[in-house]
Amino acid sequence: MTDAQPVTLTQLKNRAEDIRAELSLDQSSPEELNSKYLGKKGKFNDLAQVIRHVSAEDRKGAGQILNELKLALEKQIAKITVEQDVAPGWTDMTVPGLQPKSGHVHPVSQAMEEVTRIFERIGFTRVRYPEVDWDHYVFEALNMPPNHPARDEWETFFVDAPIDHKFGKVVLTTHTSNGQVREMERLGSTPPIRMINIARCYRRQQDATHTQMFHQFEGLVVDKGINIQNLKGTLDYFAQEFYGPGTKSRIRPFHFQFTEPSFEVDFSCHICDGTGLVDGKDDAGKASKVKCKFCKSGWHEVGGAGMVHPNVLKAGGIDPDVYTGFAFGWGVERTYTLKPGLNIDDIRLFYSGEMRFLEQF
Ligand code: DAH
Repeated sequence: MTDAQPVTLTQLKNRAEDIRAELSLDQSSPEELNSKYLGKKGKFNDLAQVIRHVSAEDRKGAGQILNELKLALEKQIAKITVEQDVAPGWTDMTVPGLQPKSGHVHPVSQAMEEVTRIFERIGFTRVRYPEVDWDHYVFEALNMPPNHPARDEWETFFVDAPIDHKFGKVVLTTHTSNGQVREMERLGSTPPIRMINIARCYRRQQDATHTQMFHQFEGLVVDKGINIQNLKGTLDYFAQEFYGPGTKSRIRPFHFQFTEPSFEVDFSCHICDGTGLVDGKDDAGKASKVKCKFCKSGWHEVGGAGMVHPNVLKAGGIDPDVYTGFAFGWGVERTYTLKPGLNIDDIRLFYSGEMRFLEQF
């Protein structure tokens, strides 16, 4: 790291790791360690000098790396000091112990808990169905016969396993909708049904808004006289409970094979209150309303919903002339990133094992 070269965060991190490793092998006395690592001309201060050569956008990250290094060095030297204070062969039982680091529930698990509680309050029951399932439950029973083009929407992982003559291939579930007909069967095809199925799903897709493994939750209600108003009321209820009072839901016509009619579901943006506009400045620098950058339109699309298709009810042994139902489903990670106060633009971070990200929740 010479003066002339810009320093990257990776270089800085590596150097910080080196210093920690050096300290762990260093046999010097605590006083010597203090001056060697934390003193005015010590290794920490030496490294801290390079912050001048870090690019402006990396400054914050660099500060964090240095802070962490300093804390780690102080802690390690304090530990060595305590250990050396005690004569060999003696244990000083009065020395305060080192506090073990305590973890917490992963943010996605927290979100799943919250979703479960919200729906339990209005009589839904949380269920779990296999994440490795038959083609039958994932596609065929959902009104998607073999070779139906609608199947292409789901970038499916197939499992190399024997094909069942009745249930077809084995797949990794592409959506939690596989729980719909399974739930009808579990209840002996006898409504009322009010399920919330939360599970892992898998698709051959990976970018800032998709991970190959993710979570979805699926609602299903079947009874006599269930209609779109019941669906809309449920969505509005969820919007307010999860995102806060005043949040609205909106349904737009769409197509899914397993619902008729089908909708896409949007929730109003909490930044611009669903207007799509926020206070800002125009090109001339004058105060004016500008497009909300968070949603761009006033709404966030979250998932799909609709009235359960008669063929799906029939696949679950339920008479569509007697019963009707609604269903909805969408991604837990995506739903969570839209919460007020969170500004997560890359959902891959959830599964990166990056402690500095996870410790914020
Ligand atoms: N399973 C759909 C998907 O993964 C989402 C969905 C749409 C679920 C409509 C539903 C529904 O229950 O009614 O894209």
